[in-house]
Amino acid sequence: MTFLDSAPEDVFASGAYWREYYAELGHENAAAGEFLHEIAGPLARRRRLRVLDAGCGPTALYWTLFVPGDNEVEGFDLNPANIAAARLQLENAKRGDTDAALTVAAEHAVGLLRLEDTAAGHTRRKAKQIKSLAVGDLTKPWPAGRDQFDFVQSVFALECLPRWEEFEFALGEACRVLKPGGRLALVNVSRTDEWHCDGRGFPTLNLTRERMEGCIAKAGLRLLECREVESQDVSIRDQGYGSIILTAAEKSPSARPRT
Ligand SMILES: C[S@@+](CC[C@H](N)C(=O)[O-])C[C@H]1O[C@@H](n2cnc3c(N)ncnc32)[C@H](O)[C@@H]1O
Repeated sequence: MTFLDSAPEDVFASGAYWREYYAELGHENAAAGEFLHEIAGPLARRRRLRVLDAGCGPTALYWTLFVPGDNEVEGFDLNPANIAAARLQLENAKRGDTDAALTVAAEHAVGLLRLEDTAAGHTRRKAKQIKSLAVGDLTKPWPAGRDQFDFVQSVFALECLPRWEEFEFALGEACRVLKPGGRLALVNVSRTDEWHCDGRGFPTLNLTRERMEGCIAKAGLRLLECREVESQDVSIRDQGYGSIILTAAEKSPSARPRT
């Protein structure tokens, strides 16, 4: 039994998480979206990407908006309520039914990706790129084979794992499922023991850049980028942290495929 078996399901299922963290684009979401675009961009210029969102929560579509290209996206999360919410949002978006939060994010993404499309058109197109969303556990072997994905993204998820061993295990899994030359992009809250939602605190691993850099190396990945960004969103909500860490890493292009 982890803390995820009880209270946090409420903040996701009740919509509090979406309302508090996604109703506005804010500084953090803009920075995270721009980071996904920056790290996936060079890969997307070369090929159609197979993308995995690990710990996707209810936001698989939201973050997919920022990843350039005509891709194939999969996602998984431990919480069935999140997967149900993400699937519902996807089905609605395919029919052109989106909410204001998605529209604002899509407008930002359209500008970033320099698309000649509307926010609505972009959202519908991206929704169609998401091929599967499933219940899965970051702390168990991931529901994917070795060398499968060009790009793995994980946003505000790994720091929610209970122990560093699990954090490190998850990074090892990210390395395993990436194709040689594939990239990992992480967005995490930093320097805190908890994040807040709906007036409650939920535990996080207290992440620093130094710790992240060590874990990336231990997972066998090559660090491309690790920057700490001070959040300006502390001025608009009680979130329990003041900075986020943006990390990008690559699986060696010469990593030998294993049989
Ligand atoms: C703060 S939310 C972030 C969700 C989403 N990625 C986002 O950007 O908003 C943390 C997510 O991690 C998920 N999570 C926590 N532990 C997990 C685990 N062991 N396996 C898979 N997902 C997990 C939770 O269910 C939740 O959706």
